[in-house]
Amino acid sequence: MTNKVTLTQFIIEQQREFPGTSGSFTALLNDIATACKKISHYVNRGELIGVLGSAESENVQGEVQKKLDIITNDIMVSALNWTGRLAGMASEEIDEMIKIPGHYPKGKYLVAFDPLDGSSNIDVNLAVGTIFSILRSREGIDADLQDFLRKGEEQVCAGFVLYGPSTMMVLTTGHGVNAFTLDQDIGEFILTHRDMRIPEETAEFAINMTNQRFWEPPVQRYIAECLQGTEGPLGKNYNMRWIASLVAEVYRILTRGGIFMYPLDCRNPEKPAKLRLMYEANPMAFIIEQAGGVCTTGRERILDIKPTDIHQRVPLILGSKHEVERIVRYHQEN
Ligand code: F6P
Ligand code: MN
Repeated sequence: MTNKVTLTQFIIEQQREFPGTSGSFTALLNDIATACKKISHYVNRGELIGVLGSAESENVQGEVQKKLDIITNDIMVSALNWTGRLAGMASEEIDEMIKIPGHYPKGKYLVAFDPLDGSSNIDVNLAVGTIFSILRSREGIDADLQDFLRKGEEQVCAGFVLYGPSTMMVLTTGHGVNAFTLDQDIGEFILTHRDMRIPEETAEFAINMTNQRFWEPPVQRYIAECLQGTEGPLGKNYNMRWIASLVAEVYRILTRGGIFMYPLDCRNPEKPAKLRLMYEANPMAFIIEQAGGVCTTGRERILDIKPTDIHQRVPLILGSKHEVERIVRYHQEN
């Protein structure tokens, strides 16, 4: 195969078609790709290099950190903070916004990221990933919190890298969704999945059923109907999946359709939702919508939410259009 399209070539060619983005954007994506190749290497080497297991610390969310949560966060920060392309960063693992060190130039973009999503899977050798969201900032000066707290609608790019049997990057800049497979031999992401589209119909759902007693009525109703199969109002038998890794669930939905839900629940009134808006829900919502799917809290489109905090949590329901629209309808009827 001689005519493989690399990530860099793809981005440069896309930029020519849609003027307005600059060389700085291509370079930023390359920086992210480089960091993710490094992360892929660490994840792949695993116990051989002693990176599995707990770090015995907690992050800002009060979750116990894995060694790899910390390592992957450091990889992202040190790959991106010196380049002059960013005005600030935000990470799931760091409480405050991450400033660009004073002696480095400031660029015109912001990146919010989850360096290792699904990290509870790492010790059991299942799929994990890195999620990122790129926003525009004011060029040349340090970003402040208000620069970050913008609706997902304003993202210029969103993507994730899935460290599974293959390492894959899924990307959108607002012109469809494309996926690239890491060719380990040459160290390049190669375009392998062009213009991914999510089937509008599905008979597959993903939800953590152990939270069932805490869900609201619309979600109770939908799942009960799925479980009734051909004998229920939906008239078809459903299949269930729960990988406990958002990146892997979204990738599955992009390839064969489906619905993923981490809905509002009443387990802990201080924490009515689990997933984070700025570096989980927003980038996934941008990707899902660009692939023809729908992404909502049940009551509101994810990309319309004006964030109030970098680490804000939101209920998340995403996937095949007709199925998600049904759940939105159930919320309205409730
Ligand atoms: O980052 C949060 C996350 O790990 C997601 O990747 C995943 O979808 C979810 O949490 C799993 O949650 P639970 O452990 O409650 O099943
Ligand atoms: Mn995560």
